[in-house]
Amino acid sequence: MKKLVSFFGDQSDVFVKLNQEAEEYAKTKDIEFVWKPQLPFDEEDVISQLQNADAGLIDVQPYGEPIFSRMGDRCKLLIRFGVGFDAVDLKAASAHGIAITRTTGANKTSVAEMAMTQILALRRQLFLNRRVMESGVWEKNIAYEMVGKKVGILGFGNIGVCLAKRLSGFECEILAYDPYPNLKAAEELGVRFTDMDEIFRTCDAISVHLPYLPSTHHIINKERFDMMKENAVIVCTARGNIIDEDDLYDALKSGRIGGAGLDVFAQEPLPTDSRLFELENCILTPHVSSQTYESLWNIYKKAIDIMDAFYKGEPLGRGDLVNPDYVH
Ligand SMILES: NC(=O)c1ccc[n+]([C@@H]2O[C@H](COP(=O)([O-])OP(=O)(O)OC[C@H]3O[C@@H](n4cnc5c(N)ncnc54)[C@H](O)[C@@H]3O)[C@@H](O)[C@H]2O)c1
Repeated sequence: MKKLVSFFGDQSDVFVKLNQEAEEYAKTKDIEFVWKPQLPFDEEDVISQLQNADAGLIDVQPYGEPIFSRMGDRCKLLIRFGVGFDAVDLKAASAHGIAITRTTGANKTSVAEMAMTQILALRRQLFLNRRVMESGVWEKNIAYEMVGKKVGILGFGNIGVCLAKRLSGFECEILAYDPYPNLKAAEELGVRFTDMDEIFRTCDAISVHLPYLPSTHHIINKERFDMMKENAVIVCTARGNIIDEDDLYDALKSGRIGGAGLDVFAQEPLPTDSRLFELENCILTPHVSSQTYESLWNIYKKAIDIMDAFYKGEPLGRGDLVNPDYVH
């Protein structure tokens, strides 16, 4: 029986239940599922667990040479709990013959729903309205509907496509930017591909679903905010550091743009003295876009399926294996 050790989650009831369910599901694939939550992250414990397992289900902490060089020969597979693999040193993993995979698509609905929620909350100024009421003022801000508005999706992958499906019910015009355009999905959903400039200049709402790469570091900055319409909003559920937070702060503080929703930050946890907390036109959530029961369960199930397929030598899903050169 192969062994999968999971480092994800905390001791809350929901994770206890999910891990019990994962253990049961793993048995049906002849896999022993062991849960070793890392709170706080203990690198020595992770290394010793991986020495005695065939695969690891890992969170967002950095995984690189210090772990790979000491985890022994048994574990040939690390599965990222989620999608972003920017904290994993792929070159080092390949050098040690370790496959890095991710659970592509398993959390797409959850993240797309969060992006949709943030766009609507910003457009209807939910948080500002509450603060105004609390201050004793009964004032009715005039907002705008979504119908007929332009929404730009940066990164038309699993989550971007899922967001477009949800937006289509709001009768918006949807634009997308992606260097590897999925033309079939775009045609089905009536999405038009264009460049970043058109999206920033013309859209009423922009949602960021790009991977974090050296080429996307601070790709959204002052130059882009200066292009935006005055009451346009931007939301980012992808990764911190895709947006330059200092430039975003200035654009929001000065009223240059209408609002922003951030679920991800350059530094996580976001320091409590962050200037972003001052802003009334900025929604902040602690990297919880994929934290729904359904999404978490989909990830556990997909991770177990990936491990099963990997050790049977079967092909993995499109985009799941992120360092195909791990085989020497
Ligand atoms: N907040 C959260 O909890 C959470 C959860 C899941 C995913 N994410 C993040 O959301 C993002 C998107 O996830 P996904 O599942 O849709 O991934 P995906 O791989 O399915 O889609 C990413 C898309 O970006 C495109 N892309 C690649 N390089 C690009 C570039 N340089 N410029 C523009 N587009 C580029 C790809 O062609 C692809 O279509 C990732 O950054 C991931 O880390 C965040």
